[in-house]
Amino acid sequence: MSRKIVVTYALPYANGPIHIGHLVGYLQTDIWVRFQKMCGNECLYFCADDTHGTPVMISARAAGISPEELIGQMYKEHKADFDGFYVEFDNYYSTHSPENKHFSELIFSRLNEAGSIVKRNVEQTYCENCKMSLPDRFVRGTCPRCKAEDQYGDSCEICSAAYRPTELINPYCATCRARPALKTSEHYFFKLVDFEKRLKDLIAGGHTQKSVANKLDEWFKIGLKDWDISRDGPYFGFKIPGEENKFFYVWLDAPIGYMASAKNYCDKNNLDFDKVWNSDEYELYHFIGKDIVYFHALFWPAMLIGAGFKTADKLFVHGFLTVNGEKMSKSRGTFIDAGTYIRYLDPKYLRYYYASKLTGGIEDIDLRTEDFVNKINSDLVGKLANLASRSGPMLTKKLAGQLGQLDKKGEQLINKLAAAKDRIIRGYEGLNYASVVRTIIALADDANRYVEQNQPWVTVKTDLERTRTTLTAVINAVRILTIYLKPILPKYAEKVEKFLNVDKLSFADVETVLANHRINEFERLVERIDKEQVNAMIEESKEGPRLAGTQTQSPEPVAAAHVEPLKPECTIEDFAKIDLRIARVVKAEAVEGADKLLRLDLDVGGLQRSVLAAIAEMYKPEELTGKIVVYLANLKPRKMRFGLSEGMILAADAGGKDVFMLSADSGAKPGQKVL
Ligand code: 2FM
Ligand code: ZN
Repeated sequence: MSRKIVVTYALPYANGPIHIGHLVGYLQTDIWVRFQKMCGNECLYFCADDTHGTPVMISARAAGISPEELIGQMYKEHKADFDGFYVEFDNYYSTHSPENKHFSELIFSRLNEAGSIVKRNVEQTYCENCKMSLPDRFVRGTCPRCKAEDQYGDSCEICSAAYRPTELINPYCATCRARPALKTSEHYFFKLVDFEKRLKDLIAGGHTQKSVANKLDEWFKIGLKDWDISRDGPYFGFKIPGEENKFFYVWLDAPIGYMASAKNYCDKNNLDFDKVWNSDEYELYHFIGKDIVYFHALFWPAMLIGAGFKTADKLFVHGFLTVNGEKMSKSRGTFIDAGTYIRYLDPKYLRYYYASKLTGGIEDIDLRTEDFVNKINSDLVGKLANLASRSGPMLTKKLAGQLGQLDKKGEQLINKLAAAKDRIIRGYEGLNYASVVRTIIALADDANRYVEQNQPWVTVKTDLERTRTTLTAVINAVRILTIYLKPILPKYAEKVEKFLNVDKLSFADVETVLANHRINEFERLVERIDKEQVNAMIEESKEGPRLAGTQTQSPEPVAAAHVEPLKPECTIEDFAKIDLRIARVVKAEAVEGADKLLRLDLDVGGLQRSVLAAIAEMYKPEELTGKIVVYLANLKPRKMRFGLSEGMILAADAGGKDVFMLSADSGAKPGQKVL
């Protein structure tokens, strides 16, 4: 009997583009869903844009548009990226939707009625400089658990701990780097600890992979804490019913977005949502990356249990992407957007490569650019597509495209290929696509060996019928291997289906043989990659220089969503207060006890000034003497631990260690006004 399955993948934030790191998970899930469908199961793949929260609000502000406009633009961009990679959702929706509002309020009110929500005063970080409270990602500092520096205010990228911004050690405002003040406000908390026993039971029942369960065990040992689920305005999100200026925290309504997407789909397709989402008739699986385990293995199931909904049958967690053994990096050009990739390379390459690396574990997968090129050229083009390109044209040109029957040898080959079906199915079901690909390549080697042994390019000159028999076996091998590959390479499979003149292939077709059948004209299935294409894509992805403290300029407002948040607007009158002057560095010296600082003595057209500048990592003091710089002359002097700093010099940075200042020969005169 066929299965009914609902699948979700973590919702991408609507404040940035999809990149090749995101695609690991979307493709892993897409392959699984396509596999289920090919087995004849009903499988629904739901996702949506994760639209709420401070980053979207600030990005919209920076782009000079409303958050609604921003998320509308991002939705289109994301959808186009997913389409470009053949990620086929049954419904791709938005968390900024009436369905999501409804379910968020419903779940909140059920939890509230059940006594799982409490109100409590909290001290929250507030930036006097930026005039806003600093939630989550807008305050950074040292992780209170593992002491890793420079972590976000809500969770640690190193140890995955979840905490509140006020718990950070040495916090600072991510926008202006000022030390935030504390303000008291009443917040809503979800009593996670009340669900400890049920969560432990769930996990003991095999809810996640073993390695994830071990991590969860650590968190149980540390002790579950109440979860702060409200944020004060200004905030882009759903208002908490009965409140004037309080909103649901984005992470409360984000997973509820899975339900909203399902509900929207059910309504459009005349299906009963309660049955699809909340009954035993449908299995439910969530796929996520390992950075958001806390939210999906603890908060989310607890919310569902508390509100009377079923929990998922399984949470599948995958690792991150590294490129050439390192974290994706903008300066190295390995932080590659989906849209950029598509402009240089065929999406099938990445689908195939990721599949060849994914094992179903939580280990990171490494994209090695050289290995990537070799694997595509030698396996996909050289072994798989080659089988079709060796047999198809000969069949259509010399044998009128007409297949014959298998002989004994041909039967042996095809039986061997068909016998691997169960192993392939087990591999897909268990998310071990790497083993699936290995099996497919080994079978392709068998088929290529068969071609070598039977030499159709020789026999075609003397014995057409023998050649037809040989090519019939090869075409059947192509057909079976294409069935095995189809969840990974759906477009490739479509081309093969057209070439073989057959209906949509599924796993059931492995049992049958194509004989006495006319095939169509062969069309190339896949091109070789040229390493230069990969290099050009990396070159384009390298982040160029930008002015420090300003935004990357772009004619497209939505592109501004990818930059750091802007500070609150200032007026022209505010700006006019600034006095920028040209200054010459008379002397530069290291500052004892402060590795990052240099003391600069400046000549500002007769005035002597001394500033402390955090550029010691970029410049040696002797390189600065005589340099011309732009100097903010009327900044109130600041008494620092290392002395008085009178004003500030301006510099531009390239996102790395380079800092550019004006050169010594710019012709500018110290004291001269800038602008
Ligand atoms: O980490 C992220 O990218 C989140 N936007 C994932 C949300 S998943 C779900 F809960 F919606
Ligand atoms: Zn600030």
